[in-house]
Amino acid sequence: MKFENDFSLKPYNTFGIDVKAKHFARFDSVQELQELLQRPAIKEEPKLILGGGSNVLFTKDFEGIVLLNGIKGMQVLHEDSNYTYVRAGGGEIWHDLVLFCLEHNLGGIENMSLIPGTVGAAPLQNIGAYGAELKDVFQELEAVHLETGEVHTFDNMACQFGYRESVFKHRLKGQYVVTSVTLRLRKAHELNTSYGAIHTTLQEMQVQQPTIHDVSAAVCHIRRSKLPDPAQIGNAGSFFKNPEIPVLLFDVLKEKHPDMPAYPVSEASVKVPAGWLIEQCGWKGKVIDNYGVHKNQALVLVNYGGAKGEKLVELAYDIIHSVQEKFGITLQPEVNIL
Ligand code: EPU
Repeated sequence: MKFENDFSLKPYNTFGIDVKAKHFARFDSVQELQELLQRPAIKEEPKLILGGGSNVLFTKDFEGIVLLNGIKGMQVLHEDSNYTYVRAGGGEIWHDLVLFCLEHNLGGIENMSLIPGTVGAAPLQNIGAYGAELKDVFQELEAVHLETGEVHTFDNMACQFGYRESVFKHRLKGQYVVTSVTLRLRKAHELNTSYGAIHTTLQEMQVQQPTIHDVSAAVCHIRRSKLPDPAQIGNAGSFFKNPEIPVLLFDVLKEKHPDMPAYPVSEASVKVPAGWLIEQCGWKGKVIDNYGVHKNQALVLVNYGGAKGEKLVELAYDIIHSVQEKFGITLQPEVNIL
């Protein structure tokens, strides 16, 4: 266990924002976390659980205790006739779990290669990319209740997954620390190469009969070419969610903007890429002092070094405002603004 006071969070958020936490502790096991939660000095403090810090934007110092999940371990638990079950500690890096599964020839999360962040954070926003979502392979998670220190198990239903959503962002917000996640991976690989960019990249790679390894390689290639590496340029991936709008509104907008892309969600609604909306408003590649909008993907806000969180929030609101003005659509941040 590690315990610090007045501690810089700069290395612990991928935006690289330099703020401080009043207290900071890293726990490496469920027992260490339970022990921490019982300390009288900590019991009353506001708490923030950090994984990879890849989905937060700090705008001020955190006047409480930041708990960093350091619980490691990955194992194949057991298998039945159709599935193999894999469990990973909440503090594991998500992409390391992808690599573990590839090494064991287990398919199901290869499309989610290179998503930044930790295993414990993955269910909170039901991470997803290139046609796959965590919920499709999720079996259960274990989580420690911050008030009681009890360990509770949540199955797929109990997590109430949606697009970048779960019960942990709503009714149970801030109440639990996810200590392990168990995946249920289908033994017969079902590749998902429907996403246009994957298909094209596999063709460029001259792969005729792709394996899960090829799909992962293609996804890594696409992500590296489009998305900035947080180790080089501070960012938190998609800053906004792709908005879901009624088909009726889409039909009206399409008359004015014939190129407007959309993906069906249901009979009555479609999802519009926020990146497209933002680009249409002229923001793509915009640099303001030491921060801005990424040049290859307008959905990603970037800190070129030393930017303040408030400035990025200001930029986010300017973007929301201009998309609202031009299209009548209100973008919602995907990133947690603290
Ligand atoms: N587009 C533009 N300009 C841009 C960016 C996108 O016009 O600057 C349009 C293009 O039409 C493009 C379409 O948007 O074809 C889709 O873009 P992309 O494939 O990059 O995906 P996205 O919808 O912008 C979502 C996720 C990403 C995920 C990709 C791939 C959300 C909020 N974002 O982005 O997730 O990697 O799909 O599946 O759903 C993340 O959550 O941090 C993240 C990076």
